[in-house]
Amino acid sequence: MEILAFGVQADEKPLIERAFGDQEEVRCLDVFLNEDTAPIAAGHEIVSTSVNADHGAAVLEVLAAGGTRMVAQRSTGFNNVDLDTAERLGMTVARVSYYSPYSVAEFAWALAMAVNRRIVRASIRTRDFDFRLDGLMGRDLHGRTAGVLGTGKIGEAFARIAHGFGMRLLGWDVAENPACAELGMRYVPKDELLARSDLITLHVPLMAETRHLIDAAALKSMRDDAILINSSRGGLIDTAALVGELRAGRFAGVGLDVYEAEAGLFFLDKSLEAVEDDTLARLVTFPNVLVTSHQAYYTEDAVGQIVDATVRNVLDYREGRRSENVLVPRS
Ligand SMILES: NC(=O)c1ccc[n+]([C@@H]2O[C@H](COP(=O)([O-])OP(=O)(O)OC[C@H]3O[C@@H](n4cnc5c(N)ncnc54)[C@H](O)[C@@H]3O)[C@@H](O)[C@H]2O)c1
Repeated sequence: MEILAFGVQADEKPLIERAFGDQEEVRCLDVFLNEDTAPIAAGHEIVSTSVNADHGAAVLEVLAAGGTRMVAQRSTGFNNVDLDTAERLGMTVARVSYYSPYSVAEFAWALAMAVNRRIVRASIRTRDFDFRLDGLMGRDLHGRTAGVLGTGKIGEAFARIAHGFGMRLLGWDVAENPACAELGMRYVPKDELLARSDLITLHVPLMAETRHLIDAAALKSMRDDAILINSSRGGLIDTAALVGELRAGRFAGVGLDVYEAEAGLFFLDKSLEAVEDDTLARLVTFPNVLVTSHQAYYTEDAVGQIVDATVRNVLDYREGRRSENVLVPRS
């Protein structure tokens, strides 16, 4: 029976079709799963969803009523999945627990270097045949301090690159990663990391305890010339408070691949619509801010691994096998 895949980007479609091959028939939709689109899944036992899909109670109820028994999410974070409702409805929900951490860590570095060395502004200038350097001065990162909040797979990959740049490493996590300690990372309390780091990067998951991890007080404790990078989840930063600090002229650079109100915006073309989100509209006007739309994972390697894992998750479901990717049922 056909699998319905929501939120499929054009580049991703051939990878999905090739990975399922003749094992399963798959239909790809570019629309994202939400309350409006959930009824399309009626009659599909298995649906596959993308980052930012709405897996709230209302949507899961509609899916279940239409006969959906399994949701194969093509992403890692599951902060947007109502696991209790899925369990109550007797659904299986699987995610992709591992794919290239280098995709995200390398992108976080791309943001860090772009804001530090004003690459986007420089490119806009040279296209206009303006070859002045005024306003483009950055800083060497060699010998400066990188603070990594969340030293799991992606944080470790980021730290390895920072080590290659010759940076000092500070880390903060509930569990120390010995591989990071071997690189010379010193684990310190969050406040100390924020106060001492030239470059701060976020790699913890979004959970109740980490929501607005970077709140007004945390932002105040950072150096005025710090660089802040978020390629994890938008909800880790209080964006309104960040805008307040940016208005006061603080921070050498801020690179955001994620934004707390990105659902319904990111991955879509909104260029011809009136902007409704004043916070985002203000954010993109600052010369020291770079916003990208949740593309850190978007490499051939990572997307290929995500798609392969999704095929395995579907086959496991069909054959009654359980893997570490299964979120629901819980045991
Ligand atoms: N922008 C993107 O395209 C993209 C892609 C993939 C992942 N991500 C985000 O990156 C995050 C990190 O991914 P990962 O693969 O490195 O995960 P991981 O599980 O390997 O690492 C997460 C780290 O956070 C730590 N942590 C968990 N809860 C914490 C808490 N309350 N306080 C402090 N530390 C805590 C864990 O101990 C772990 O070391 C994901 O949760 C996801 O939100 C973003």
